[in-house]
Amino acid sequence: MTKLSVNLNKVALLRNTRTIGIPSVTKAARIAISAGAHGITVHPRPDERHAKSADVDELAALLTTFPHVEFNIEGNPFPKFLEIVRKARPTQCTLVPDSPEAFTSDHGWELAEHGARLRPIIEELRDLGIRVSLFLDPDCEQVRRAKEIGADRIELYTEPYAAAFHGNELETVFEQYRNAAREAHAANLGVNAGHDLNLENLGQFCAIPNIAEVSIGHALISDALEMGLSAAVQAYLKILSASRDTTRDDTE
Ligand code: PXP
Repeated sequence: MTKLSVNLNKVALLRNTRTIGIPSVTKAARIAISAGAHGITVHPRPDERHAKSADVDELAALLTTFPHVEFNIEGNPFPKFLEIVRKARPTQCTLVPDSPEAFTSDHGWELAEHGARLRPIIEELRDLGIRVSLFLDPDCEQVRRAKEIGADRIELYTEPYAAAFHGNELETVFEQYRNAAREAHAANLGVNAGHDLNLENLGQFCAIPNIAEVSIGHALISDALEMGLSAAVQAYLKILSASRDTTRDDTE
């Protein structure tokens, strides 16, 4: 079954608007885990407007008590980010090419340009026992380059899929994701996905075979405002569980 990693950045964002520590990111993590989430994700940006390095430390400590739960830290591998990752030793580090002032992640890596810089970073993180995933647009050329520079997985940037979901171009756009996922699977790269996935569009996306993990924040935390965090996590898990029953490996 595709794993659900709950991105808690939006909980941190709300917490940061006051100085009294609520809502608590670690408490949200506990609730998500109790509801069955397979992983917890944070994206500590340089300006710490969402998750702060202290959140990463606290989550890393908490997750040592939940060894079955994966910790995923996302971000652009600036020196400070790499310090945070070295200290936290997450299960997975997802490298993202977002600029410090970016509103949110808005594109995947262009590896012809950045691959040489990323290669030693990937090697170092893998030597520390951290799985490395690269945030990519659904582009087979980028997938091949990700393999060449030593990544373990890719994370497909799903905003264009989500934006196309109600339009006439959905099939064309979706086909790009299917192809990129197939290319990655053939190259023995794991495939994650994330950005703007929600209760409406997740099911169809996970009809793509072999999606290892989806990381979901904005929509899930928004749903949590209406239905509660535990129920929101369970609603996403239900969709993933239903997809498991209908997908099969189309590369065999
Ligand atoms: N993956 C990456 C690399 C991201 O930066 C984000 C947003 O922080 C997500 C997944 C989750 O996107 P969303 O918050 O839209 O679910």
